Amino acid sequence: MTAVEEPTTEPAPPFHLRGNYAPVMEEVDAVDLPVIGQLPPELNGRYVRNGANPKHGPTMHWFAGDGMLHGIRLREGRAEWYRNRWVRTKALEGAQRIDPATGAMDLTVGLANTHVWRHAGRIFALEEGSLPNEISPELDTLGPYDFGGLLRTPCTAHPHTCPETGEMHFFGYELIGPPYVTYHVADAEGRLVHSQPIEVPGPTMVHDFALSRNHAIFLDLPVVFDLELAMQGTMPFQWRDAYGARIGLLHREGARRGEQPRWFDVELCYVFHIMNAWESDDGSLVHLDAGRHASMWAGGPDRFEPSYLHRWTFDLRDGTVREEQLDDVAHGFPRIDERRTGLPNRYGYVVGPRPGAPQAMDAPSTIVKYDLRTGARTAHDFGAGGSTGEPVFVPRAGAVAEDDGYLVTFVHDAPSGSSSFVVLDATDVGVEPLAVVPLPQRVPYGFHGSWFADEPG
Ligand SMILES: [Fe+2]
Repeated sequence: MTAVEEPTTEPAPPFHLRGNYAPVMEEVDAVDLPVIGQLPPELNGRYVRNGANPKHGPTMHWFAGDGMLHGIRLREGRAEWYRNRWVRTKALEGAQRIDPATGAMDLTVGLANTHVWRHAGRIFALEEGSLPNEISPELDTLGPYDFGGLLRTPCTAHPHTCPETGEMHFFGYELIGPPYVTYHVADAEGRLVHSQPIEVPGPTMVHDFALSRNHAIFLDLPVVFDLELAMQGTMPFQWRDAYGARIGLLHREGARRGEQPRWFDVELCYVFHIMNAWESDDGSLVHLDAGRHASMWAGGPDRFEPSYLHRWTFDLRDGTVREEQLDDVAHGFPRIDERRTGLPNRYGYVVGPRPGAPQAMDAPSTIVKYDLRTGARTAHDFGAGGSTGEPVFVPRAGAVAEDDGYLVTFVHDAPSGSSSFVVLDATDVGVEPLAVVPLPQRVPYGFHGSWFADEPG
């Protein structure tokens, strides 16, 4: 008689470790890649995108993987190279953020997995729990960067560069004790010229913030750090109704005189990503467009509530705030033409769902262009098995119209398991891509990227 094996009921891995979320283990170099269509010859530079790609086995959360950069280098219509590299962080080599003996935080230890940003000639791989990691244009890691010893807090993964002053505005948030949030400004030459604690009541998780012409805008929302959960090695951030929700407007000049933000209570929500903020001509109204989640992780750490484009309008004359949902279709990864940061923008670009697709983390997705003036939304559909990363806007040389440029991203095709780099015409996103560059390996879903145009000289 043959023994009958008991059926095994291995739990499925969490979403962030399967399908196109699963990490890749090879660091690949490829040159002179084939191009379908035509790369605009004026696109001279590099598109680099960051993401979580755990090297040493399963991670407890999507956000906990080691940073891996995927980059493509374009020159005069050619796709000169593609390569991917782990950021050589201290964490990758096994260092701990918190010294178990002293409890001290080591700001040089981080995952560097969230975004990649250039300021004053330096490129940073960013993750909000640590200092930036500087990388080379060839994606080699140069190491933690602390602005000559002046930056003594972590650095957000979402700095914003003011197009009028060239300053990079950013912040860091900390968890163990106040100040929980610190605001920083680096001038156009890359010098850290301002650091200031922002008074908030507790260890709130702050992923992004906004810049308008005269204000830095801070989110103080009810996803809060819990030290006991952290000690247990589980997801340490929790949704807490009782924390409340408010948004603070800090006058950029007032900040230099030590002013604190003016806070506005808002309906309970969470915001990962802002689209933009801008002011009325007389400066009395400040508008903030962002992706509003009704809650975050209220039902567990893998429970991402969808985000809907939402506008808060702050009236500085009477201290009121008005809230308005701009769309009833969910979105993620909002971007704009960064020459409009802090200024009125007509267009925004996001990742949206494919009509009819299930609401799931790995569902097919589209690139959506919002015309905020008319309310129109147009989409680029990558097909039933296609899903796209964040669309990054690159202006055309000499462009006058705000949308005169390109959208670049990585796209995954589930049936073939392959990935490609795609260039869309931002003025007409619905039509065929201008160029598709098939890539030599799968590019897992990631977080954020930037286009780094070649700089003169
Ligand atoms: Fe982000």
